Amino acid sequence: MHETANDATALRTRLVDDLLADGAVRDPRWARAFREVDRHAFLPRFFRQLTDGRWGPVDADDPDWLPLVYRDRVCVTQLDGDDGAWQRAVDEGAVHGVPTCSSSMPTIMAIMLEALRVQPGHDVLEIGAGTGYNAALLCHVLGAEHVTTVDVDPGVLARARDHLAAVGGEPTCVVGDGELGCPERAPYDRVLCTCAVSRIPTAWLTQTKPGGLVVTTLNRSIGAGLVRLVSDGRGGGRGRVLAEDGRFMPLRAHAHGWAADVLEIARGAPADERGRTALDPELVVDPGSPFEFFAGLVLPDVVVGHGDRHRVHLAHPDGSWARLRTGSPRVEQGGPRRLWQLAERGYRQWLDLGRPRRDHFAFTVGPEGQRFHLGDLDWPVCSPG
Ligand SMILES: C[S@@+](CC[C@H](N)C(=O)[O-])C[C@H]1O[C@@H](n2cnc3c(N)ncnc32)[C@H](O)[C@@H]1O
Repeated sequence: MHETANDATALRTRLVDDLLADGAVRDPRWARAFREVDRHAFLPRFFRQLTDGRWGPVDADDPDWLPLVYRDRVCVTQLDGDDGAWQRAVDEGAVHGVPTCSSSMPTIMAIMLEALRVQPGHDVLEIGAGTGYNAALLCHVLGAEHVTTVDVDPGVLARARDHLAAVGGEPTCVVGDGELGCPERAPYDRVLCTCAVSRIPTAWLTQTKPGGLVVTTLNRSIGAGLVRLVSDGRGGGRGRVLAEDGRFMPLRAHAHGWAADVLEIARGAPADERGRTALDPELVVDPGSPFEFFAGLVLPDVVVGHGDRHRVHLAHPDGSWARLRTGSPRVEQGGPRRLWQLAERGYRQWLDLGRPRRDHFAFTVGPEGQRFHLGDLDWPVCSPG
């Protein structure tokens, strides 16, 4: 146990030094919290992904446990909402599944905590308790009496509460649908969502004091990212897309449950139209591309799938799809709209606008709906209707 503590401290110190060196952590209060809260206390067991995509179990008996916990990586703790999957992976070998709970990548956690701009005495609502680690960092800086954390999954929440109690932090832990916020403890100075949403739930803004902040990631297959909104206290808000990117697992009700079906069409349907393009698909779909955020604006609700041999599939729930391959000028399309033409037109518009970066865009929630803005131009957050 003594060895574990020493190893963990050394590994954690290195991780926090890296977060500071990269600029993800800047505020000394968050640096202290990351140094003093044990991430391994929140990750007694998790999954590691194997090269074939399956998930293998990891726990404290595994010599890789602490090195894996203290990498700057997401640690997945639940698959398909099924708490039996970890034991099955121990008993029968690695399993397939889609992550439904994790401790997020420390860099993204740090960026979001910094973006929250907390002050002493602030009351914070966290949506997505998960392992409890992020709530523990909030408790370290603000005090447990100022932190409320909500998770939709009772088993997840119970484990988070146990982990938090073990490290001596006892925020208010609530089982519930985070889309509704947590009215019993409102109003809040800050709302932080650690899963991604397709649109900002109005409850978060009505439960945030006027001038308070809501920080969340957006669940968009193309052009996802982090936004910070200032609440008007009446269900509206104005804010910006932040420079840093952030991609999280979705709030359960906001998951694109239809994505697999429409991508299946994109993979196998005969083409209605074949053509050529000069636009590299990676420019459109790679989160590292400077155009990718704008591509998400001109392709709302379009999901991306990757096939073998660098194939890229785009698909929309209206049945429109496009099929391309990186390095090849050929494009095949089908369905009611030509998605690749929309991407090409969007690329020309982006060049004409002077290649705006994601943090040039404002974001508003109001009677006109939820929209991104750039000067006089605006785009809906999701397809209307
Ligand atoms: C990425 S994890 C959160 C990480 C967590 N903050 C931590 O430090 O470990 C996302 C969590 O969001 C939860 N979640 C998904 N949909 C939700 C909803 N509608 N309301 C509340 N929690 C939700 C999941 O159960 C999962 O635990």
